[in-house]
Amino acid sequence: MIQRWHKKKTQLPFIAIIFFFFILCTIFFNERRFQQIHRKHNDVIGVGVHNDAKKPFSSRSTHFTPVVLDRFSTCNSTVKYNGRKAEWDVPLRQYNKQREKKDSCDVFSGRWVFDNTSYPLYNESDCPYMSDQLACHKHGRPDLDYQFWRWQPHGCNLKRWNATELWDKLRGKRLMFVGDSLNRGQWISMLCLMESVIPADKKSITPNAPLTIFRAEEYNATIEFQWAPLLVESNSDDPVNHRLDERIMRPDSVLRHASEWEHVDILIFNSYLWWRQGPVKLLWGNEENGVCEEADSLEAMELAMHAWANWIKTKVDQLKKKVFFVTMSPTHLWSREWEAGTEGNCYNEKMPIEDERYWGSGSDLDTMRMVDNVVNNLKPRVSVINITQLSEYRKDGHPSIYRKFWESRTAEQMANPSSYSDCIHWCLPGVPDVWNELLFHFL
Ligand SMILES: *[C@@H]1O[C@H](CO)[C@@H](O)[C@H](O)[C@H]1NC(C)=O
Ligand SMILES: *[C@@H]1O[C@H](CO)[C@@H](O)[C@H](O)[C@H]1NC(C)=O
Ligand SMILES: *[C@@H]1O[C@H](CO)[C@@H](O)[C@H](O)[C@H]1NC(C)=O
Ligand SMILES: *[C@@H]1O[C@H](CO)[C@@H](O)[C@H](O)[C@H]1NC(C)=O
Ligand SMILES: *[C@@H]1O[C@H](CO)[C@@H](O)[C@H](O)[C@H]1NC(C)=O
Ligand SMILES: *[C@@H]1O[C@H](CO)[C@@H](O)[C@H](O)[C@H]1NC(C)=O
Repeated sequence: MIQRWHKKKTQLPFIAIIFFFFILCTIFFNERRFQQIHRKHNDVIGVGVHNDAKKPFSSRSTHFTPVVLDRFSTCNSTVKYNGRKAEWDVPLRQYNKQREKKDSCDVFSGRWVFDNTSYPLYNESDCPYMSDQLACHKHGRPDLDYQFWRWQPHGCNLKRWNATELWDKLRGKRLMFVGDSLNRGQWISMLCLMESVIPADKKSITPNAPLTIFRAEEYNATIEFQWAPLLVESNSDDPVNHRLDERIMRPDSVLRHASEWEHVDILIFNSYLWWRQGPVKLLWGNEENGVCEEADSLEAMELAMHAWANWIKTKVDQLKKKVFFVTMSPTHLWSREWEAGTEGNCYNEKMPIEDERYWGSGSDLDTMRMVDNVVNNLKPRVSVINITQLSEYRKDGHPSIYRKFWESRTAEQMANPSSYSDCIHWCLPGVPDVWNELLFHFL
């Protein structure tokens, strides 16, 4: 992939795409080390999931048992997507936003305030669960100001962070993050925010793909992460080995992941960046000949969101479960978007953007509208953690070159650091800590 990247160096959009894949690919090697030990155990879990996935998702069962998707799955042939939708039990309606009452204070609208007395909320080196992909100081980042920003909503204050109070709320409960590497970053942030008040012999972590579980014994509580980048079943569901180049998804089945969701008290979902590059192949549950349909990424994401929404509508009792959806995490791949005439990216950025109307091209408005409609249909079962605008301002918050890279860099790359900068993920301590403060505010 890196070679292709070099050849086409003159075509900017192409570089962006390859770069993007490169970054997404590099992150997956992160877990390899973490999970190798537990391979055997996973195989056992894998069989369980396999059996589950064979059960038809809805009552409209077919005589035919769909194959389980894995990274070796292929389509026998591919045709263009013809607009077919799954027939869900509870269809979504067009949502009328006008009817909504305006909340007294919108905590997602505000500004970043430099506050080096109360931030960071934990030390990077003190957190035993820190990821080498996000530990920017450890990997040589010289400026530390990115750790010291507090989110200040206009017209009100966020609830003060208190780990003990949150543990009290989680007593006897399971909290699970479900999604991609951005969501995993938020999960790691949550572990770092929460672990220090638990004595070393009363906490444990079970690294086992596709579900990783942090346990706090005294509270009988868990904080978990499930890898499900497309929400629905896909050939990318193995957190270590997956395919980004040729994604195949089942637009009508969340079952592989949802069998875990059923027993969780608090669920935090995200999904966005994996849909940014189309097309995506669809393999419907009743397709017997391996014929895939090829859809553009927004169409495909909408199908996946509808499958997810159907699960929420049919399975979530709002008195028993809390469900959150975290909106798209912005990227800062083009410095010209905040400073005209420049040609860099997030590399070397040290300050947040102050223009409150700033919105980068990485946050797709059509996707936002589609997500708006789906999640508004699910109110009050689902609450939105709308991180997009507030994270847009934080061009300074990405690892850029200060993280572990899993492939060695060429001399040419080294000479031009922005060429391999990660402007997608976020340093910790940093922006995702605030996403968790917002979550705490609503719990
Ligand atoms: C906090 O920032 C101010 C202004 O930059 C600086 O004078 C002060 O020394 C800093 N305090 C700490 C504890 O870093
Ligand atoms: C971080 O470490 C410094 C010095 O090692 C210490 O003074 C500070 O209290 C620590 N902060 C937190 C949030 O634990
Ligand atoms: C945090 O919450 C606990 C339990 O609710 C409470 O006892 C403690 O005083 C709180 N700490 C702060 C700093 O507010
Ligand atoms: C611990 O929590 C689980 C739910 O996560 C619950 O089923 C179980 O009964 C709890 N155990 C104790 C001893 O409270
Ligand atoms: C592709 O076709 C072969 C033979 O016709 C069949 O065995 C296989 O299951 C098909 N693939 C899929 C993904 O359905
Ligand atoms: C999130 O906030 C943006 C404005 O910052 C708004 O346009 C969008 O509709 C919101 N999305 C959701 C799902 O609430």
